[in-house]
Amino acid sequence: MKPLLMGTNLKMYKTAGQTQAYLSALQTLTQDLRAQTTLFVIPSYPALERAANTVKDKAILLGAQNMHPEEQGQFTGEVSPLMLQEFGLDIVEIGHSERRHVFGETDEQENKKVVSALNHGFTALLCVGETAEQKAAGIADEVLAMQLKIGLRGVLPEQAARIWVAYEPVWAIGVNGVPAPADYVKERHASIRRILGELFLLTEIPVLYGGSVNPQNAEELIVQPNVDGLFTGRAAWDAENFNALIRQVLPLWQRKQA
Ligand code: PGA
Repeated sequence: MKPLLMGTNLKMYKTAGQTQAYLSALQTLTQDLRAQTTLFVIPSYPALERAANTVKDKAILLGAQNMHPEEQGQFTGEVSPLMLQEFGLDIVEIGHSERRHVFGETDEQENKKVVSALNHGFTALLCVGETAEQKAAGIADEVLAMQLKIGLRGVLPEQAARIWVAYEPVWAIGVNGVPAPADYVKERHASIRRILGELFLLTEIPVLYGGSVNPQNAEELIVQPNVDGLFTGRAAWDAENFNALIRQVLPLWQRKQA
């Protein structure tokens, strides 16, 4: 049975000390779930070292929220793959909607980051999702196809096993987000699965859903076909709440696999 994949991006929340407290609580609370789950947390850069020292035996996988594709250079304010490698991270998150829409990153930039992350041994977690305007124009699937086809260009077939995709509709994310209806999620995940199949002839790439996941909607989301896990923001930033959410969806995930 495939483990349930559940993770959170801490965005620009939690200092190193708060991240340490959060991770050590989450690690203890979820101790009995190791075999049945793959959990991951993506802290801010300054918290990575403490995070890495807090988590034991990869009980919780750790990732970075962004990465510059080059190993070094005159790129003030950026962080390179070599710097992230020293923390022993597993994951680099690439193309979160805030990177794309607040900081103006393009599909071509995300692609460079994906290729570099894979070449440096990380799992590349590529986030995709349409804006409200694109949804209203009926081009969500076209947008997703473009983000995936450009974002994953040049990825070698043997690297595809280290790609994770998160579908996060921009209009569903954050405090002003409107949770996406389960049927809508099901359709988009089917289309993402189809595109990934075309690109890699591989059905194993996990596709997570994210955007205002909470205890009210998590169950109907996890049971959808092609939803391989949940990528949660606010509802996971308290260790007790995240632990409860994981336990809430785990039986449904296991029933879906059976
Ligand atoms: P949210 O964040 O769950 O707070 O909407 C999701 C995300 O941005 O990954």
